[in-house]
Amino acid sequence: MTLHRLGQMRAAGEKIAMLTCYDAAFARLLDDAGVDVLLVGDSLGMVIQGHPSTVPVSLEQMVYHTQSVARGNRTAWVIADLPFGSYQESVSQAVHNAVLLMQAGAHMVKLEGGGWTVPLVRALVERGVPVCAHLGFTPQSVHALGGYRIQAREEPAAAALARDAAELAAAGASMLIVELVPSTVTRSLSASLPLTVIGIGAGSGCHGQVLVLYDMLDLTPGKLPRFVRNFMEGSGSIAEAVQRYVREVKDGSFPDDARHGY
Ligand code: KIV
Repeated sequence: MTLHRLGQMRAAGEKIAMLTCYDAAFARLLDDAGVDVLLVGDSLGMVIQGHPSTVPVSLEQMVYHTQSVARGNRTAWVIADLPFGSYQESVSQAVHNAVLLMQAGAHMVKLEGGGWTVPLVRALVERGVPVCAHLGFTPQSVHALGGYRIQAREEPAAAALARDAAELAAAGASMLIVELVPSTVTRSLSASLPLTVIGIGAGSGCHGQVLVLYDMLDLTPGKLPRFVRNFMEGSGSIAEAVQRYVREVKDGSFPDDARHGY
């Protein structure tokens, strides 16, 4: 997988299937099952380390997991999260830490937020680091956002999100993850922006979908948000569950806005 191929898929209307991935064994399994993009998400702080948020995850831990995923992967595109505190200080801090993730085996880095992140995105792209932005609910800001809640429900917030997304695209971001926003908001972003929009709890009108691997494999304890679907239900193995996810993202049957959307 390449950035060019991902752009071709978007242009052709072929949906992109992305899952989070944190180790070599799952990287191999997901790649073999046809997952297009592996996201070494800082959600590992919650699902692997047991923290209540992604805030405690360190850059060193992201480098370790990115190296593990890169060793197991053969063909998928690999994105690594810049964790909280690894890009907030300055452009030079962001560039320095993005280089460490790229050297660990990432093909692209992801950072959260709009507005203040625009100069960081521009600097990274100018220096040869592809960037995935992340708007809507941004988990590293969970305390500032007042918990896990739907974003951009009202018109002024939806307009601000669209403005942020357009600025990030103009700065050179080639992908955007949109989390926990109404389906109508994402649908219009996907139709109007020159970048690839991937949704999580953001409806079916995106160029692709991402879920946290442990959520869709039913490994996360407790009640999951409505946008998550348990793909283990009715599957005989993990590989079959992942293959079903890929198939249903690609044929448009997951997500179903009536069941999984806001
Ligand atoms: O860290 C992560 O897994 C993410 C996804 C929720 C998109 O950012």
